[in-house]
Amino acid sequence: GFATRAATRTLATLGDQMAKLYLAPPDPWPVYRAIRDRGPVYRSRMGYTAVSSHELCARVLRGPGFGVRDSAGRLTEEQMIPVGSVPSLLELDPPDHGKLRRLVAPAFRPKLINEYRPRIEETTGRLLDKIDGPFDLMSDFATPLPITVISELLGIPEDSRARFADYGKLAGQALDGQLTARQQVDLEKAIAALNDLFSELMAQRRVDPGNDVISVLVQAVDGDKITADELLSTCQLLLIAGFETTVNLIGNAVFHLGRNPAQWALLRERPELAAGAVEETLRYEPPVPITGRVSQTEVELAGERLPADTPVLTMLATANRDSSVYPEPDRFDITREGGPEHFAFSSGVHYCLGAQLARIEGEIALRALAERFPDLRPVGTPVLRPSASIRGFVRFPVEVGVR
Ligand code: HEM
Repeated sequence: GFATRAATRTLATLGDQMAKLYLAPPDPWPVYRAIRDRGPVYRSRMGYTAVSSHELCARVLRGPGFGVRDSAGRLTEEQMIPVGSVPSLLELDPPDHGKLRRLVAPAFRPKLINEYRPRIEETTGRLLDKIDGPFDLMSDFATPLPITVISELLGIPEDSRARFADYGKLAGQALDGQLTARQQVDLEKAIAALNDLFSELMAQRRVDPGNDVISVLVQAVDGDKITADELLSTCQLLLIAGFETTVNLIGNAVFHLGRNPAQWALLRERPELAAGAVEETLRYEPPVPITGRVSQTEVELAGERLPADTPVLTMLATANRDSSVYPEPDRFDITREGGPEHFAFSSGVHYCLGAQLARIEGEIALRALAERFPDLRPVGTPVLRPSASIRGFVRFPVEVGVR
């Protein structure tokens, strides 16, 4: 960030809402609301400007005048992903972004992703078969499911998945800015090990291609359309995306269904509402609550002039509860219909590439939980992830009742 932790604390005591948010309060919603209530464009002394309405988030995310790089083409610190040797998709603006995205997108086309449905169902079943009493939703189910799915999608052999998991965990902590010097060294080692693993896999898929994402990408490398480094940074991004987000979609869904027993009862009676429950969770408590862009020229937002190179945070979570587009926005309703698409997957050119995969995983997971464990309920207090940038739990004990 722009301020040290001590400076952030001082700003927070002076009432700077963004500083409060960066200290990762257990419930960020009062802060989100305070930012929203201070007007359409909130200026923090931390050096950020924030927008919270659906309209302004759309405007900033879709451009024109905004991107992930400033007017000199520099990446803002906030936008940097702490891994990878060349910029990943999330670190590129058009036209470079489009060139890479067009090459990666075929690996995520709906038809291909839909073909993974039976395998996701199988993985879900296998994980839930092991459960016969109280369990931790995060470590026993919500985490291993997406990790297995992304590993299968990338074609990571089973005996290499442990390497893969270590890396994902460290990369996640790096995102939260929580790495000790020792862990930083471990992360670098893990990245090197991962590079080797992906290089091995690329060589192998070149001679023996399969249906997996790496095989699709290797063909693009061979056509000289993408470099090996770009492929690597793409795989790393997919890995982080696969580790850090769907996990929390599942956790956040069960949390809000637990707090709204009538909604859980509805899902139990009509498991086909699982897709609706996923959509409502994404709107109500998005795993990625905030993203950001930077102005690349002087721009006007809601009557305010922002000079070029102003970092603007788009408060996705708050825009998802904008009462001008969602009636009764603070009500969690899995049968909700109408209204524009929420911003859980962002908007514009960086719209989440894995959105369809995440939706399918979430739907299968929630449906299976509701069908197998109709008496599922939280026990004790779940432990929140201490992060301003990811919304979810690290621990979430649940009980399943008698089967
Ligand atoms: C981009 C959220 C799952 C791959 C994004 C962005 C968001 C997001 C908010 C855009 C950030 C920005 O505009 O600055 C989520 C959520 C997920 C999820 C909430 C689960 C519930 C996944 C999965 C994958 C994935 C499962 C792939 C396996 C990507 C990629 C991008 C992206 C590659 C970058 C796209 C680009 O820059 O063109 N995601 N994501 N995501 N996501 Fe996801």
